[in-house]
Order: sequence, then structure tokens, then C-alpha cells
Amino acid sequence: MNSRAATSDGTASATPFVHEGFAYGCDYNPEQWGPEVWADDVRLMREAGVDLVAINIFGWSHIEPRPGEYDFTTLDTVIELLHANGIRVNLGTGTSSPPPWLSTLHPEILPVTDDGTSRFPGGRQAWCPSSAVFREHALALVEQVAMRYGHHPAIALWHVSNELGCHNALCYCDDTAAAFRLWLQARYGTIEALNEAWGTSFWSQRYGQWAEILTPRRTLSSRNPGQVLDFHRFSSAELLDYFRRETAVLRRHSTVAVTTNFMVTAHIRNLDYWSWAGDMDIVANDHYLDHRLADPTTELAFAADLTRGLAGGAPWLLMEQAAGAVNWQPHNLAKAPGEMTRNSLAHVARGADGICFFQWRASLQGSEKFHSALVPHAGTDTVLWREVVALGATLGRLAEVTGSRVVADVAILFSWESWWSGDGESRPSQSVRYLDQMHAAYTALHELGVTVDIVSPDADLSGYRLVVAPALYLVSDAQAENLNAYVASGGHALITFFSGIVDEDDRVRTGGYPGAFREILGITVEEFSPLLPGHVLALDSGAAATLWAERLRVDTAEVVASYVDGPLPGVPAVTRNRHVGGTAWYVATALEAGALRDLLRTIAQEARVTALGPESAGTIEVVRRMGTTHSYLFIINHGPDDVELAASGHELVTDESVDRIVRVPARAVRVIREDPAS
Ligand code: GAL
Repeated sequence: MNSRAATSDGTASATPFVHEGFAYGCDYNPEQWGPEVWADDVRLMREAGVDLVAINIFGWSHIEPRPGEYDFTTLDTVIELLHANGIRVNLGTGTSSPPPWLSTLHPEILPVTDDGTSRFPGGRQAWCPSSAVFREHALALVEQVAMRYGHHPAIALWHVSNELGCHNALCYCDDTAAAFRLWLQARYGTIEALNEAWGTSFWSQRYGQWAEILTPRRTLSSRNPGQVLDFHRFSSAELLDYFRRETAVLRRHSTVAVTTNFMVTAHIRNLDYWSWAGDMDIVANDHYLDHRLADPTTELAFAADLTRGLAGGAPWLLMEQAAGAVNWQPHNLAKAPGEMTRNSLAHVARGADGICFFQWRASLQGSEKFHSALVPHAGTDTVLWREVVALGATLGRLAEVTGSRVVADVAILFSWESWWSGDGESRPSQSVRYLDQMHAAYTALHELGVTVDIVSPDADLSGYRLVVAPALYLVSDAQAENLNAYVASGGHALITFFSGIVDEDDRVRTGGYPGAFREILGITVEEFSPLLPGHVLALDSGAAATLWAERLRVDTAEVVASYVDGPLPGVPAVTRNRHVGGTAWYVATALEAGALRDLLRTIAQEARVTALGPESAGTIEVVRRMGTTHSYLFIINHGPDDVELAASGHELVTDESVDRIVRVPARAVRVIREDPAS
């Protein structure tokens, strides 16, 4: 593979991450074992085909055991051992978790939560992103690491910190408040402009001077939504600034590509990765199946498609996943035989050119000793290890796929700003959650067998046959215009309820909801009418719906379905507004899954969207990656039955030719290098 993020506008170097075939790797924490184990580790890595390992991720207390005293003996030995065995290094800068001496000397670096209390060391990531003291010590460490290894031939990639913001994205301390004020001054220029943006005439919140502004700590009532939204924006920007500072140090000593591992996943939402992605030499993501969700496997596909969106369509790296169970969910499910392989190849199908895991060898101590690893506690005479070795071989057989790109007819618009603001306090219904609405729309398309790009509301939409905007609560004027212009020029769009409600200051767009899209949709919503949990509405189309209704009247739109019962009988629930060439659909309620799928089937057909896969309950995934000379058709069968699908070419997993029909056994994956004509 040979990649870099497509939308680079930050500090990205001219050096792309280059790897022969798929990167296959893991986090490797050799400091948890002695040298006798390391020799065994590299032998087994070679057996499995592991060729990229992330080290020094949590190295700080080892390599700087006392302030300013550096000891690279172990790291030197490990790097030489890996290098001698042809295993490339994804070198952590080591700054993710400060050593106890730092927080003992400088307790002011510790993060503060929204109740104003400090969080203590003893876990990880116990530092405030705005702390000048933390930054000084961390950057001094990065300098040492970069100077020592910046030109080492084993180093393939720099891994800045680790999952920036996983625990500490939002710090409410006084240092943060000072940095927040500076950020606000740069954004607004005058205190009057800030007052205007935050709507501080409400509840006597007008600020007279910058010094009066605090981080949005917990209050007796709900907080100012403008302040909370800007605090999210600031906090994301503050960690990005920190990433850039580490990167600048690395750049002084090395031309090796730089990245950090994103957390495009269901439960973490603190960083606006649209603003981060351009700084990555290659976009990398960590993904863990989340069994608290109704459908973790479909969420994997969603996260992978969003990661590809962040990479601007270019190949990306799966930096972490689990070989089996994790240890941080209430119930940590093991993976069934074959599930890890299907998960891995689902990431590959959706654009990953590298598959890595947390971690190499299962820890014996510490918080993560019950987290799975490539080498389990039980050793190598295990189902799991044999699958690890087999996956390495499979990736080897698929090497020619690297560099190819996924093609999609449909885009879903995803916005961290809508997530932050739409899920805020004091909204019409606490049961309407951004990610639920996002997942509902994605799942419907996924089950229809349609490949989806997940893109920013600012993205160029002109290449798509259909654009879906689920619960896109906050849109800037430019974003509204982007979607409106897309429809006006012949595009097909589906917009769902609680979209286009406010501008980028979280200020309501007046004249009837959804202010940003009212004209293009040809409707006016006079009033929201949320439902109590468990209340199911009937529509005259036969569909059922929950959560939400609206007093809606059509202006130029036609009515597709109306409520039969509930608070608004006879009022339209689904509408369609035809334009020259294009159509704007609106859904004013939370349709139950089958009804949303039925509607999207109709819309996709009208928009002439190609569904690659058969309709299934997400059990069969079909995705195509296009290379310069060939296309590759991935078929992932999660189901208990063999399936047969149309394809012609050469199947790379089994190394067999395929003539018109390919049989994909239950729970297996097939990847067909397609004949040029097909
Ligand atoms: C990630 C983290 C790893 C490990 C893993 C466990 O969030 O980067 O260090 O903790 O989770 O699932």
C-alpha cells in the first residue's frame, strides 16, 4: 500500500506510508515481559506474518524513569530484534500516559471533570490537554525519541500518543479555561460577538469581559448550549493542536509518515475528525465490536465506511481491534471461530489496507489482563492462534487488492457538530439520539445491499445518486446550500426529522422547521410533537413509527404517508418534493426498521442506485474495490447458510477461478478479482 489522506491541509509530510501488501500487526508491549519471551514473540510474529508492530505506546515511565533521565536500553534491543526479523515498527511517541513522577511533581497537569473535581493518576491519560507543563515534558520526550530513532530503517510509521482524547478530551480546569478564552477571542474577536453567538441575553448570562468566561462546569440548571458547543469545538481543536506540536517535533528529526489512532466508534464522540483527518499521513482507526448495540457487525461496517470518508476515499489502517473479547464492556463476548477473520476482511472490503490488533500477547497483570490478544493466555495450541496465522496467510493472498478504492452511489452526511448540539441538554426529546438515527439510516441501506460513503456535510456531493441526511440538526449556511444545491441540480436526497433546525451558533432557523431545508423539501413544520417511550404510531402506508411526530403541512411537496393515530392523525409523516431531475424526501418520524428499509428501497430505485449485495438482515455484505487494472468483489457471509452470487473472475482466498456463480460457504469470505468485462 502507498497512502496518504486526500484532504491534507495541516502538517502532513511529503512522506506517505508505504508498505508491501497489507500491513498485519498489533500493539506490542514487550516491557511487560523479559527478553526470553521476546525471542519467542518474534518467532511467532514471523509464523503469523505479522509485519508491523506498534511499540512504546505506554513507554514513558520506562524510557524516562526519572525527570530528564532517559534510558533507551530496552527499546533499542526490541527495535533491533524486530528489525533483524524483518518486522517494521510503528513507533509510539510514548506520551499517552505520563509517569507517576510527573503528576507527583506537577499535580496541576491532572484533568478536572465538569463537577470541578480532579481525577487522579493510577489509570491512564491523566493529563489536561491544555497543560503547558504536561506539553513541555511530553514534547521533550518526543524530541528524545525522534532524535534517537528518526532515521532508523525499522521505523515505518510514527504513532503519536494513543487514542488522543479517549478519556481526557474534556478537561474543565483553570488552565483549560484560560486556553478556552484565547480560542474564543480568536473565533469571535469581540465579547459582543460572543454574546451574540451564545445568546447570552437569555437568563442574564451576558459577559462583560473575557475573564468572566469559564469552562461549562456542571450547573444547577441546564447550561448555555452555545458555550457547551463551543467547548466541544475548542476541546477537539486543542487536542489537534497538541497532535500538531508532537508532529512538528517529529518532523524536525524524521521524514517518516505520522499518524495517530482515531476512535470512530459508537461510544466516543469528542473529536471532530473531519478537522483532524487532513493532518494524518495515513488515517488510522481503532474499532471494537460493541455488544451493547443491537447490531455490532453493522456498526463495524458503518465505522469502517466513516473512516474511509475521513481518509477522503484513500486506503486507511485499522490500527486496533480485538482478536476475541474486550474487557471494558459489561459483558465481554468472545468471537466465534471465523468471526475475527470476517471482521478483519469487512474492514478490508471497506478500504483498510492494514489490519492490526490490540495487542500481541495477553497481559498477565494490569487492567487489561482479560482482554484478548493474538497470543492468548492459553498459548498457541488454540483455535484463536490458528485463526491468527490463517488470517496472515489470507491477507498475503489478497496483497494485490491494496491501493484499490471502494465505489459508492450513496452518501450519508455525518456531523460531529450535529452530534454534540443535537444530543445536548434541554431538547424536545431525550430519546432522540443522533447516533441512533444515523445507525438506523445506515442499517437500512446496509440491509438493502447498498454501499455507502459517509461524508461531511461540506463534501462535494455531485458524484452521488442519493444523499441521506439523518437528524442533521445543525448546519452552517454553506452546508445547507451544499445539500440544497445538490437537489436543485438533480440529486436525490432523504432528510430525516430534527435536521436543519439551527445554524452553526445553535440558533433556531425561523419561519417553520426545518429552516435550512424547508424550501427544498416543500414543507413547513409548525411544531414538534415528540412521543413518550413505547408509544407506537400507525401510518396509512401500513408502517409503524415511534419517538417523534410533527405538525407538518405540505407546501409544494406531495404526501407519501400520513399518521392514522397518535397526536396528529391525518398529518403528513413522509413527503416527496420533486425538482427538475431530483427529488427531496422527508421523513418526519422514526419509522420502524422495516418501514425505513422499504422507503429507502423505493428512494434508491428512483435514484437508480446500484445495490451490489442481495437484501439480507446484514448477514451478507458485498462491496467492490476498484483498482487501476482490476476490480475486487468482496462477499462476506455472516450467516449460517452457504450462498451463491453472480461473479466471474478469480477467487483470491481459495485461489480458484469463478465462472458466473460463486459459492460462499456459511461464515466465510470470498474475494473475486473480477474479469474486466464484469
Ligand atoms: C484502546 C486502547 C488500547 C487498549 C484497547 C483495549 O482504546 O488504545 O490501549 O486499551 O483499547 O480494547
